[in-house]
Amino acid sequence: MDPWQECMDFGVEVTKEAGKMIREALQKEISVREKSSPVDLVTETDQKVEELIISSIREKFPTHSFIGEESVAAGAPSALTDGPTWIIDPIDGTTNFVHRFPFVSVSIGFTVNRQIEFGIVFSCLEDKMYTARRGRGAFCNGTPITVSGQQDITKSLILTEMGFKKDPEHFRTVMANMESVLSIPVHGIRAPGSAAVNMCLVACGAADAYYHIGIHCWDMAGGAAILTEAGGVVMDITGGPFDLMSRRLIAASSRGIAESIAKKIQPFCCGRDDTEN
Ligand code: IPD
Repeated sequence: MDPWQECMDFGVEVTKEAGKMIREALQKEISVREKSSPVDLVTETDQKVEELIISSIREKFPTHSFIGEESVAAGAPSALTDGPTWIIDPIDGTTNFVHRFPFVSVSIGFTVNRQIEFGIVFSCLEDKMYTARRGRGAFCNGTPITVSGQQDITKSLILTEMGFKKDPEHFRTVMANMESVLSIPVHGIRAPGSAAVNMCLVACGAADAYYHIGIHCWDMAGGAAILTEAGGVVMDITGGPFDLMSRRLIAASSRGIAESIAKKIQPFCCGRDDTEN
């Protein structure tokens, strides 16, 4: 008997409800506020969707813990413990949501003993529900998915994101990293605007890798489960082991491609999710 399957099934149902709420909100006027910078946005819908997800799950599983993007923004702790923990991004791709750009997702990762047991990413405007249970494969709308398996970086399509910090040093490093990867050469770089969707795009073979410095555990947890179950790898940007709370990752279709990217990019300081930044 799988102790966490019931949680996953419940999580999928709640995620569908959340996706419905997001699609309905897109029919109305969207009121936007700034968070950490003028390009880090939040809407009423981010907060309402997170409330819906957390209250539904808490009612069913009252002893479980939560790390939610909007709860952390409001002052809740984001330390990962050994207990069952739901790591939630109610709208991953808020800027896309604000502009009605079609990659907007609900992302949930579930950890026990700090290990990700399952991931759920609902790209709700595309109506694609990605799911993965540890050891049981990855799926999109119930159909198994696998990474491209591409080993040759010069034949790869790479995803990344520019992030929200715009101080000159950060900006220069992000641009220098893109230049360095492009000059390998690779077939191209894309920035779809939702970290969770990016990992699912690699998981289903539409892209070969995704790297990012400065994201958060709620952007990565669901997608990391889906990518690894689809046969991909996640690692730190230095080539070391992936650390969910480190705010950085390379997610790739093969270890070879991930290592090639690790050799090309320079880290910059972005703090951790489990310490004061
Ligand atoms: C953001 C998206 C975006 C990435 C940011 C994330 P949010 O998530 O994943 O692609 O560039 O770093 O924070 O804020 O829309 O949930």
